[in-house]
Amino acid sequence: MSAPRLEPPALQWTGPDAFEIDGVAFVHALAQQSKPGRFVIAKPRQLVERYIDTVTTVPDATIVELGIFRGGSAVLTALVARPRRLVVADVRAEPVIELEQFVADRQLDTVVRRRYGLDQADRAQVAALLDEEIGEAPIDLVIDDASHRYEPTLASFEVIFPRLAVGGRYLIEDWRSRAKVAYRIREVRRGATGDEVAPLASPLGEESRQQFRRNIVSNRAALDAFAARIAEVLRSPAHPDHATVRADLEQIAGNEAAPEHPVVAALLRRAHQDPSDPAHDVVRHLVDHEPDSAVASAVLADPSPDLLPPPAPVPAVEVSLPGLAVELLRAHTARPDVIAEFRADPDWIELTRGSALLDESFSVRSLTA
Ligand SMILES: C[S@@+](CC[C@H](N)C(=O)[O-])C[C@H]1O[C@@H](n2cnc3c(N)ncnc32)[C@H](O)[C@@H]1O
Repeated sequence: MSAPRLEPPALQWTGPDAFEIDGVAFVHALAQQSKPGRFVIAKPRQLVERYIDTVTTVPDATIVELGIFRGGSAVLTALVARPRRLVVADVRAEPVIELEQFVADRQLDTVVRRRYGLDQADRAQVAALLDEEIGEAPIDLVIDDASHRYEPTLASFEVIFPRLAVGGRYLIEDWRSRAKVAYRIREVRRGATGDEVAPLASPLGEESRQQFRRNIVSNRAALDAFAARIAEVLRSPAHPDHATVRADLEQIAGNEAAPEHPVVAALLRRAHQDPSDPAHDVVRHLVDHEPDSAVASAVLADPSPDLLPPPAPVPAVEVSLPGLAVELLRAHTARPDVIAEFRADPDWIELTRGSALLDESFSVRSLTA
């Protein structure tokens, strides 16, 4: 017998990235700000549809969502799930004015509880939030759409998961998104500044470009992965980003300060010398056939391929959210009485709480030890 499901208010798509529901507009445009009655949501259409489907499975639910951003998903959940209680939290200290206004207008203050300035990595803060806003009530659904980083995600998981109802669900969003390269780089070791290579992040989208600008570091493994993606785009002239990436590359390598861009220059030189490098063909072609090109000049100016520092040791599980997924899968296999179901797809990891009694000493590692 399937559980009763809520009938959410009708949703109308008003554009490829915009919809309305119950008199409130939403747009998936991360660079924009929310406005009164119009919320920016960090989910594309297919994810919005899946999200609604998920939050409406349990009537009268107690829901926790980490990651408020501009308020879009909190408002959407409040509208479609009509929860008994929705607790939303974000590390940013400034309240989202439009969300506050929405809650006031609809008189939802006791239902939609907002907590700003809460770091999901801070176990004591997360536990206090649950104590204050939910108390002993079992939680039906958790959506972690916050840091997307291993340690903080694990910390809040270990505090919140034991408080789920048996059969309750815990979702970790965006665990293998394209931006992972950027996150991974940030978490390793700093080297070149983001400004030096940010333009090359164009095929990753504007958000990742900004992350690169802020966070790029000289980690070889991450740069290798990044270079491979750039090379992929360069190799296929039909790729929509081909012209931009090529222009970016030319501009960076051609910049008078090219030697000031050791990461880019070293990548180009290594690609030139190493036939197994995914960018080898395109760089060779430019050097052989377009010797005046900026890429060729950068390669020919200094034949040394190796300006990059030696790779830092990267314990994969320690730095990546996919590593956490592996641990959770192992835990599910070892202890289905704790994690009854495990599903992972490109959107999120989804875990269902088993019937084992858990207390505040719960840890993912102890499940497989
Ligand atoms: C992807 S956005 C959330 C999007 C929102 N759920 C939506 O769908 O519209 C991620 C949010 O998580 C917050 N965040 C990042 N690190 C965090 C942390 N350690 N603890 C709590 N929130 C964090 C960011 O400030 C940001 O607002």
